[in-house]
Amino acid sequence: MTQPVTLSTAGSIAVIEINNPPVNALSQAVRQGLLDAVVQADADAAVTAIVILGAGRSFPAGADIKEFGQPMQDPHLPDVIDRIESCSKPVVAALHGTALGGGFEIALGSHYRIAVPSARVGLPEIHLGLIPGAGGTQRLPRLCGAAMALDIMFKGTPISAQDALAAGLIDRLAEGDLRQAALIYAAELQTPRRSREATSGLADKAAFEAALTDAEETARSRMRGQMAPLKIVQCLRACITQPFADGRLFERDCFFECLASEQSKGMIHAFFAQRASAKVPEASRAEPRPLNRLGVVGGGTMGAGITVAALNSGLPVTMIERDHDSLARGRANVEQVYDRLIAKGRMSEAQKSDIMARYQGSTQFADLSEADMVIEAVFERLDVKRAVFEQLDKVLKPDAVLASNTSYIDIDEISSVTNRRKHVLGLHFFSPANIMKLLEIVVPQSAADDVVATGFALAKILGKIPVRAGNSPGFIGNRILGKYGDCAAHMMEDGATPYEIDAAIVEFGYPMGLHAMYDLAGLDIGWDNRKAAQGKRNPVERYVEIADRICERGWFGQKTGRGFYLYPDGARIGAPDPEILALIEAERAKKSITARRFTAEEIMARYLAAMVNEACEVLREGVALKPSDIDVTFVHGYGFPRYRGGPMKFADSYGLARMLDDIRRYGQHDPIFWQASPLLVELVASGQTFNDLNKG
Ligand code: 3HC
Ligand code: NAI
Repeated sequence: MTQPVTLSTAGSIAVIEINNPPVNALSQAVRQGLLDAVVQADADAAVTAIVILGAGRSFPAGADIKEFGQPMQDPHLPDVIDRIESCSKPVVAALHGTALGGGFEIALGSHYRIAVPSARVGLPEIHLGLIPGAGGTQRLPRLCGAAMALDIMFKGTPISAQDALAAGLIDRLAEGDLRQAALIYAAELQTPRRSREATSGLADKAAFEAALTDAEETARSRMRGQMAPLKIVQCLRACITQPFADGRLFERDCFFECLASEQSKGMIHAFFAQRASAKVPEASRAEPRPLNRLGVVGGGTMGAGITVAALNSGLPVTMIERDHDSLARGRANVEQVYDRLIAKGRMSEAQKSDIMARYQGSTQFADLSEADMVIEAVFERLDVKRAVFEQLDKVLKPDAVLASNTSYIDIDEISSVTNRRKHVLGLHFFSPANIMKLLEIVVPQSAADDVVATGFALAKILGKIPVRAGNSPGFIGNRILGKYGDCAAHMMEDGATPYEIDAAIVEFGYPMGLHAMYDLAGLDIGWDNRKAAQGKRNPVERYVEIADRICERGWFGQKTGRGFYLYPDGARIGAPDPEILALIEAERAKKSITARRFTAEEIMARYLAAMVNEACEVLREGVALKPSDIDVTFVHGYGFPRYRGGPMKFADSYGLARMLDDIRRYGQHDPIFWQASPLLVELVASGQTFNDLNKG
């Protein structure tokens, strides 16, 4: 077996190489190996300096997340790093790939840092509900000050080697071979230089304090409900109030407190769920087809967003619209995204021109003859989509992949007009498609494995988070949304105001409430769907007409200045509307419903039970492959708080038996809506959790 850490020498320089693929995570074996190697090199009189580097694709990308949740074994990382820092000979960390979390903390504990230009460094612990726990909160601010340290820790996004160099976090960029450059650098160095003793970042005490105050405000507002941001602020405060050793111990206590929290468990679950969602049977059986040119049909909201996403990732795109005016609008929709960035100073005209050089517009389907994949994003009408598919079938090359961005329509019904059904799948992007990370990859029975694999490959190119969904109405997300949307409508008719419901949802951790989200998306979308479903609805099912009454008044949400909320003078945040409350009251009166009070707790218990119960049906029918795919869908497409892991993870911690009891209790009043899913019943009977299903 390969040793996870090896020690060798090059002349008088000791080289410690960490080799724990794929990302050199700092497992117990790596920590022990690193400690042993450092002690040995330090004690070796023939060694004048030490270089630490990572084998393979990266310097360590952090602690081994798989070890979290198990008893922490010696040696602990902070102690290993303290030992590195106390070395009597200069220690150089040589960085490539992503030096993250504990990996970057090793670099900060080393005396000098050299990096290849493509390296990135960062402290992403916040995305796992954690804080840097191996000295990062104490060493980083001492080097670069509180403002930058907080920025790195709060955003959790890695920074480039160039930015790190400019901030003094890296000493030198290595041109050419990193190992060679590190050896040359180490040979030049005479004495250790310890970050714990650095004072440059602490010199301007007033600026330090001001950064802490700002960060505290951000933690309480934008990062509301999360534990780690406030803990980070407290740790940084310790930098100016306590000696290094005490601050380090305080940081460790805070780290363990975060690690034990439900928030961290939720976020770690979300981390692994996201990676698991990209692994699907089809992609393991087949290689993706080449993806060098994309076609997009439709330049409206979604077509333009998808085009921007593809252009940004370097793909050339041909956009097809139905006539010249629509094409001009489609192009303008794309350009508008870049113009906004230019207005904010985040893009130059030259960068926009470079990107737009990859854009081609046309009204001729024949111009898609070279496309490797075409995504249709025209109106949500079967006849329109079929007509488009018929035309595409005639002009596309035989192995081109054809995708529809439909929200609800059966992919088979669309593709049945073609002679290439096995090349067709659904790619359900979320709006705005250039921003939202989720991509539901809808797999009809007839889709070939390599077509599905190509869908997942596209997700990777675009930086999207893919989830495999079966071809069933609303796929995973919209189908479940429909159910808890109905549940919210029932509560509204029974006595809760839309504002109380939204407040409960926001309090739970969503960025916005359901009704504010409806207003943002446009109430006419749901209304069109409801009108189309008229006559097909089960008459015994409860139907709430409040939203229809609102739409009949032409109140479609933000774009019309009012919906569930009022948006005076183009306001983005809505105000409660007394007329809506009166309208709701009138609807209740028609059905002789006496309004009752709902607590925020009851609102959320019902809302989440409706969500999870329908999710069970989605799983039972095989529309989603595993519970964690549903978690990924809701965290990345519907604003479910990531620190709760997703609805299925939440249900596990709430207790499935308790949720089933709730559903049965609600069912006493509305047995048609509240039918417990047989899957939920089965899990409770067998004492299993959704996590057990994830493990397979
Ligand atoms: N521990 C254990 N496994 C890890 C890991 C880690 N820190 N980071 C990545 N992996 C695993 C992934 O689960 C995945 O496994 P799989 O192939 O079985 O699914 C594999 O490594 C490759 O990861 P990705 O698919 O994510 O590969 P990418 O190339 O897309 O991304 C990365 C690489 C940028 C390093 C990304 O994996 C990442 O962001 N990792 C997490 C980094 C992190 O959060 N570090 C901080 C950890 S907490 C910490 O260090 C605490 C300390 O302060 C004490
Ligand atoms: P939109 O109305 O903004 O754009 C549709 C575009 O298609 C228009 O520009 C229209 O000119 C063009 N078009 C119509 N017929 C055409 C034809 N025959 N050939 C070429 N172009 C044609 O609609 P939007 O919102 O972009 O929706 C498009 C699709 O994406 C729909 O299927 C919708 O359900 C789906 N979708 C929409 C989401 C949203 O939030 N808007 C989210 C996810 C999916």
